[in-house]
Amino acid sequence: MTAPPISECALRDALAQFASGVTVVTAQTPAGPVGFTASAFTSVSLAPPLVLVCVRKGASAHDAVVAAEAFGVNVLSERQKWIAEQFARSGVDRFRQVRVRAAGEGEGLPLVEGAIVHLECRHHVAYPAGDHTILVGEVTRASVAAGRPLVHHARRFGGFFAENASRAGAVAAGAPQGGEA
Ligand SMILES: Cc1cc2nc3c(=O)[nH]c(=O)nc-3n(C[C@H](O)[C@H](O)[C@H](O)COP(=O)(O)O)c2cc1C
Repeated sequence: MTAPPISECALRDALAQFASGVTVVTAQTPAGPVGFTASAFTSVSLAPPLVLVCVRKGASAHDAVVAAEAFGVNVLSERQKWIAEQFARSGVDRFRQVRVRAAGEGEGLPLVEGAIVHLECRHHVAYPAGDHTILVGEVTRASVAAGRPLVHHARRFGGFFAENASRAGAVAAGAPQGGEA
């Protein structure tokens, strides 16, 4: 007997428990810059340097980002929740009031100022995967700035607390102590 297929709702609820950072993926087109908020981002390979992002096939930015020769991954800081929300909204100017600089050649790759990491990626390969496209990019340039990441968990945004801070919180909340080195 085969198990019944999992409902989309149950799958969403399960996957929402996976805490992640938040990125904005950007690209330049002849009609202007495009971008969208993405948490389905991960590192793939160090040699060659590859990362991937999953783009929903029906998304307004899909075709432009997948077709672009280059795309940018902007890892948002905890101060940029509003940018994550704006780049996830449909039918708005997502770049409104967002400070952007142009990197690379030609029209330039739009990179979001204030992000804690900028990755400039050259299109490497794209794979269809269900209702998404797995877009793999070769990282041609990476820059890191000071700041703490924006985190997404259970459909909410928050910040990151390093181990010492969380342990202090756990102790304060009455968690059992000792046993751990
Ligand atoms: C926290 C968060 C993470 C998201 N991650 C992804 C993602 O990894 N891939 C994706 O295609 N869309 C992702 N989205 C959705 C897009 O940002 C955006 O809402 C969607 O493309 C809107 O569709 P539209 O461009 O057709 O209006 C995410 C949205 C949020 C709020």
